[in-house]
Amino acid sequence: MNKTLIAYFSRTGNTKMVAEAIHRALGGNRKLAAIEDAGPLADYGLIFAGFPVQAHSVPLPAERFLKSIPAGSNIALFSTHGAFPHHRLAQEALEYAAVLVSQGRLLGTFHCRGKLSLQALEALAESPEHQEWTQMAPSAASHPDAHDLAEAAVFARHMKARSAEARNKRSEAS
Ligand SMILES: Cc1cc2nc3c(=O)[nH]c(=O)nc-3n(C[C@H](O)[C@H](O)[C@H](O)COP(=O)(O)O)c2cc1C
Repeated sequence: MNKTLIAYFSRTGNTKMVAEAIHRALGGNRKLAAIEDAGPLADYGLIFAGFPVQAHSVPLPAERFLKSIPAGSNIALFSTHGAFPHHRLAQEALEYAAVLVSQGRLLGTFHCRGKLSLQALEALAESPEHQEWTQMAPSAASHPDAHDLAEAAVFARHMKARSAEARNKRSEAS
């Protein structure tokens, strides 16, 4: 149960970059995989799961993955998004993801901005449902940047320490 999984869903590579930074930051027995290649989830002491915010929410494949995490697992969630970090549109998808994993033990969350191509931005800005976040998205153009990835590494180590604490508490109690 000392194994850590870092699973991500990523369409254009931003969330994958964050997943790779988390993977690099952790030592020991760990696996980095796209969610479709993650395999059985029961063996992991800690599962990191990441996704891009899409249409204000969690993309369907990521939603399915989150729902499949076994009850009682230690979980850390991360996301990337075009909206400003403290805007509700950047926060709400993670809040929804937290509900999806409520059978597990959510240890913490991390999110940062992620760029979009100008072409995608222009196309999405045409549709009323995307207007609010697409107005903020141009300034995400350089993200995830080195600072975001350094923060992701700090998050990774913090989550690892928390999951070890949770394991110790459980073994003391039994
Ligand atoms: C179809 C589509 C919908 C998106 N919807 C949102 C959104 O609702 N809110 C937001 O903040 N960013 C939104 N984004 C921006 C992405 O979340 C952001 O670019 C993210 O970093 C992409 O991650 P990826 O490269 O791992 O796919 C959207 C991007 C696309 C392509």
